[in-house]
Amino acid sequence: MRKKVTVIGAGNVGASCAVRIADKQLADVTLIDIVEGVPQGKALDILEACPMEASDVQVVGTNDYEDTANSDLVVMTAGFPRKPGMSRDDLLLKNASIVKSCIGSAVKYSPNAILIIVSNPLDAMCHVAYETSGFSRNRVIGMAGVLDTARFRTFLAQAAGVSVENVVAMVLGGHGDTMVPLVRYTSVAGIPVDQILPREQLDAIIQRTRDGGAEIVGHLKTGSAYYAPSSSVVEMVGAILKDKRKVLPCAARLEGEYGRNGIFVGVPCKLGAHGLEHVYEVELDSGEMAALDASADAVEELVSVLVQNGY
Ligand code: LAC
Repeated sequence: MRKKVTVIGAGNVGASCAVRIADKQLADVTLIDIVEGVPQGKALDILEACPMEASDVQVVGTNDYEDTANSDLVVMTAGFPRKPGMSRDDLLLKNASIVKSCIGSAVKYSPNAILIIVSNPLDAMCHVAYETSGFSRNRVIGMAGVLDTARFRTFLAQAAGVSVENVVAMVLGGHGDTMVPLVRYTSVAGIPVDQILPREQLDAIIQRTRDGGAEIVGHLKTGSAYYAPSSSVVEMVGAILKDKRKVLPCAARLEGEYGRNGIFVGVPCKLGAHGLEHVYEVELDSGEMAALDASADAVEELVSVLVQNGY
């Protein structure tokens, strides 16, 4: 029997996730949104593309959580996107209430699902999903690091004039202005990247990676990125549904790793059939550790605002 993935939110990110999951024939997809007609219309349109994509999955749109029952995976994309000049953190309380209500409804019908959270501010929204679902940490994972490393890899490959496939990169920390691209753990086909590009160019690329989301918002003006975010989600979906045990940077709830407890932050994770199967603790020098601490502190500050507001 085919696996079932529910995508919450039929906006640009959610619909793009549904397209990519269907095109890759990874699972049947249920697309759910509060707006009437939009998930139904988009789902039917995606389904009608399946003959060309040689994909035999079912794609259904709905406004009713009952139709999401028994999903193996739930991808949470609903929420307000940023406008130019806004940081992801400006969305905190508005999106917390959306995440709480959507995840509450989804887990009622899919108590065994694995949750992938995409709504921003990402790490704080993972906290809301974790608290709302009552799931153990292996079933609540945030998508951010895959996207941030993809941006880092793209810029590095362009600068070095090599294939994006050759660039293996690591970005730790929260999905925000304090994210920590790690040059020491980034290579071009195994060659440390600082042997290929000069320090000033690497610094500029690190800054561009940190600002990667805002750069797209600046162009689009009415919303944020969705092609690379949806590819990033589907990389995680594939790793889990195919039990690939792929090591990807994701937001995971730390339970002692990196000296932190009970906070979601981006770290290298092994994803397989059980969801988050391992958090890798890599050696960090004092500068890298300080940067990761600052990033985790920024997430903790947001979570304390959530806790004050009853989340
Ligand atoms: C970005 C949004 C999705 O980084 O957070 O583009």
